[in-house]
Amino acid sequence: MNTRYHDVAADHYDSKWGIDFGELGHDQVLAKVRKALHTKPGHYPRSLEIGSGTGYFTLNMMRAGLIDEATCSDISPGMLASLTANAGRLGLEVRTVEADAERLPFADQSFDLVLGHAILHHIPDLPQAFREFARVLAPGGTLLFAGEPSRYGDRLASVPKRAAGALAPLWRRAIGARPRGWAGTASDGAPDAALEGVVDVHAFAPGELSSLARGAGFTDVRVTGEELLANWFGWTNRTLEATAEPFDVPWAWRQYAYRGYLVLQELDRRLLESRLPPTIFYNLLLAARKPA
Ligand SMILES: C[S@@+](CC[C@H](N)C(=O)[O-])C[C@H]1O[C@@H](n2cnc3c(N)ncnc32)[C@H](O)[C@@H]1O
Repeated sequence: MNTRYHDVAADHYDSKWGIDFGELGHDQVLAKVRKALHTKPGHYPRSLEIGSGTGYFTLNMMRAGLIDEATCSDISPGMLASLTANAGRLGLEVRTVEADAERLPFADQSFDLVLGHAILHHIPDLPQAFREFARVLAPGGTLLFAGEPSRYGDRLASVPKRAAGALAPLWRRAIGARPRGWAGTASDGAPDAALEGVVDVHAFAPGELSSLARGAGFTDVRVTGEELLANWFGWTNRTLEATAEPFDVPWAWRQYAYRGYLVLQELDRRLLESRLPPTIFYNLLLAARKPA
């Protein structure tokens, strides 16, 4: 199911999720890496990304000069094909390997960094996958995952989603937009949103992520939370926009949604993320080290 869902998603993935390989994507990825590690990122000769999708993390990290030799693995050949096309456009060389995170086809101790973004929540047998991450990492190697859904943060986000759903007719009237589907555009070819519930198999409490890492023998385990206000704002806008004909949503609204999200993301980072417990944030980040 995961392979099929993501193969279908591959063509629309970058535009749907705002995946960017310009300055914005570079800055966003580096900020997440720094946040997870709680320090300036190191330099990694050999990296392996798990569930790399279209290359958001690895390609932006390569552009920042953090990685020499990159291997990107994913269960979906469609995603890897999009990644190869993105890498070609950026002039980057990446090895792609079709692989399930629970059975990695790589030799022991063959990478200095194992990373992933928005992938752990898709993997059914997480203890097995973490054993694989530990096996393929060299001693002293770094484990880094970002963008994992927080169970409590997800519940909190349902409040703005519900409020936006209720306010949507008023909002559409205010901006002069027709309800979605009016012009026969209800489906944009993207995979059925209902399937997201099937492929997203976990949401995490911070302690669950750290236990998985410790259980596989990792040390220096840190779990960090990110995005609270930015996330509520983002979900409110996405929920509203999903109810309207895409071409009826004015450019000025899209600019407001986009810029507002970046401002609130910065506010979360500067004011809230270091002061509030990780559990209430929408996303969790995990960093750990394989003992030397
Ligand atoms: C939400 S997407 C994230 C993609 C990319 N990391 C990003 O941040 O844009 C999840 C990715 O994990 C892949 N995936 C799902 N289950 C997997 C598994 N068991 N092993 C490896 N990859 C998997 C999917 O094909 C998809 O590309």
